[in-house]
Amino acid sequence: MNVNDLLSLKQKVALVSGGVGRYGLPIVEGLAEAGATVIATSRSLAKSQAVATRLQGTGLLVHGRALDQADHQSVLALRREIEDHFGRLDVFVNNAVAWPMKRYDDPLTAWAESMSINSTGMFDLLREMAQLIARGGGGTIVNISSMFGVFGPDFSNYTGTEMDCAPDYPFQKGGMIALTKYLARKLAPQKIRVNCISPGGIYNHHPEPFLSRYVSKVPLGRMANHDDIKGVVVFFASAASSYVTGENLVMDGGLHA
Ligand SMILES: NC(=O)c1ccc[n+]([C@@H]2O[C@H](COP(=O)([O-])OP(=O)(O)OC[C@H]3O[C@@H](n4cnc5c(N)ncnc54)[C@H](OP(=O)(O)O)[C@@H]3O)[C@@H](O)[C@H]2O)c1
Repeated sequence: MNVNDLLSLKQKVALVSGGVGRYGLPIVEGLAEAGATVIATSRSLAKSQAVATRLQGTGLLVHGRALDQADHQSVLALRREIEDHFGRLDVFVNNAVAWPMKRYDDPLTAWAESMSINSTGMFDLLREMAQLIARGGGGTIVNISSMFGVFGPDFSNYTGTEMDCAPDYPFQKGGMIALTKYLARKLAPQKIRVNCISPGGIYNHHPEPFLSRYVSKVPLGRMANHDDIKGVVVFFASAASSYVTGENLVMDGGLHA
């Protein structure tokens, strides 16, 4: 098969949770540019539809839908909507994240809220979408973890800024990598491949002195940009990676090389 055909997502239906966020948007664009019909979710239907309308204007097949993954009824409603409107699901990019916990000393209620969205809710959505993909004969799941799921944060980067890394985040992101390996084995009989991307920070007008400290430690000399994740996610979503499952790819500009 020609490599361009292997990478093509034409005729495929893809879902990206949190598809209007910092990494979600380029993921939606990348999948749609590879030919997929992409459903981008936000808790706000208006927000997801505004992004979809803008991308449709550039010729991409993008649709906006509402999803709160912490709400089981919302997860089921999205599942029904995909079945009724799109008929199938081939690709799920498990990307959404909420940040209710900001610091190590925050109350346990913040940790619990984070778990209900990023752990329980995330798994609820993942399991429902895997069932949908299985019903159509198989497909791919791409989990979006973080370099903090593999490596500890470098707290010295945050000195003199309001930035921090709360402990729920690496806990969940490390778990997501382990879950990827579990699901790769569990779902292989249903012809579903499950892989994971662990990105480094994407540039978002970060404050000094964080930015220059961070960038000085990255061999490629910059934070991730809008395009960096597109090819990686299309690789894992498409037949170009058809003999890869259970893998975690760290995409951090060489920071941990
Ligand atoms: N930003 C980085 O530098 C970085 C680095 C490494 C890894 N990552 C990973 O990249 C992924 C995306 O992160 P991001 O930085 O793009 O975050 P973001 O800009 O905050 O986007 C996260 C998205 O998740 C959605 N979301 C929040 N709560 C939700 C809920 N209860 N149900 C459904 N969706 C919900 C939000 O949508 P609405 O608010 O519109 O509902 C938002 O669009 C995450 O898995 C994150 O761990 C990010």
